[in-house]
Amino acid sequence: MHKIFDLTGKTILVTGASSGIGKQCAITISECGGKLVITGRDKDRLDETFNSLKGSGHLQLIADLSKDDEIEKLTDELPILNGIVHCAGITAPIPAKFIRSRHIDEMMRINYHAPVLVTTRILSKKKLLDYSSIVFFSTIATKFPYYGGALYISSKSALSGFSMVLALEQAPKGIRSNCLLPGFVKTPMYDATEQHASPEAMKKFEMLHPLGIGTPEDVAGPVCFLLSDAARWITGINIPLGGSL
Ligand SMILES: NC(=O)c1ccc[n+]([C@@H]2O[C@H](COP(=O)([O-])OP(=O)(O)OC[C@H]3O[C@@H](n4cnc5c(N)ncnc54)[C@H](OP(=O)(O)O)[C@@H]3O)[C@@H](O)[C@H]2O)c1
Repeated sequence: MHKIFDLTGKTILVTGASSGIGKQCAITISECGGKLVITGRDKDRLDETFNSLKGSGHLQLIADLSKDDEIEKLTDELPILNGIVHCAGITAPIPAKFIRSRHIDEMMRINYHAPVLVTTRILSKKKLLDYSSIVFFSTIATKFPYYGGALYISSKSALSGFSMVLALEQAPKGIRSNCLLPGFVKTPMYDATEQHASPEAMKKFEMLHPLGIGTPEDVAGPVCFLLSDAARWITGINIPLGGSL
């Protein structure tokens, strides 16, 4: 690998590292030389990720990011970081007319409140070095709405907005903030969607992906690029993945 993609000497926090995209991002970052702090709720699956990491000196911390006190504890325990990859997220399709207050709270809590608060607490505690990189996860569905996706799409659109403003505010310190918008990626989240959606709807989604449905590896590469010095002039943008048409 070319030196500019090297993550040696960088310490990166990955949330949602116990599954899917977060798990693969952690593994690929370790293969690029980075040191990891991985977090998730499920201890056994987080252990599995931890044991797949290349190199040494990594750290794993269990935290339920829907709880403010656990975010506080997590951010207290963190070492000084060079990057954050916010993979933790949920999807729960519900037609708009059935949405109640608790549905909004549940979705926003993990998809918006958690990545925002984890970031702001890390910044307040001065645990993110200048010239660090922050990667958020939105979705291509913000451009291609689907039936039942009102809450998920709203939560992810809000996160894109946060990332853009953060980029502006942190630019004087060289801290970059970008948001990835993947199309469908084969993970447990995808499997859950497949169980609920009709075969016709899945076919329609697939047609939006000229390069086919993605794998976690397809996403981990762009994440490593954004964390690396090769992306040092890129901030405040929303990057679609999957060639969605
Ligand atoms: N897969 C796709 O097609 C796709 C497309 C576009 C965007 N995305 C976004 O990409 C990100 C990763 O998705 P994925 O497909 O990898 O999902 P996934 O396999 O379902 O993994 C979700 C992760 O989020 C964590 N998480 C959920 N609730 C949490 C909570 N309260 N506290 C802490 N961690 C929590 C889970 O941890 P535990 O399992 O340990 O609870 C798990 O590690 C998400 O933000 C998703 O919205 C995915």
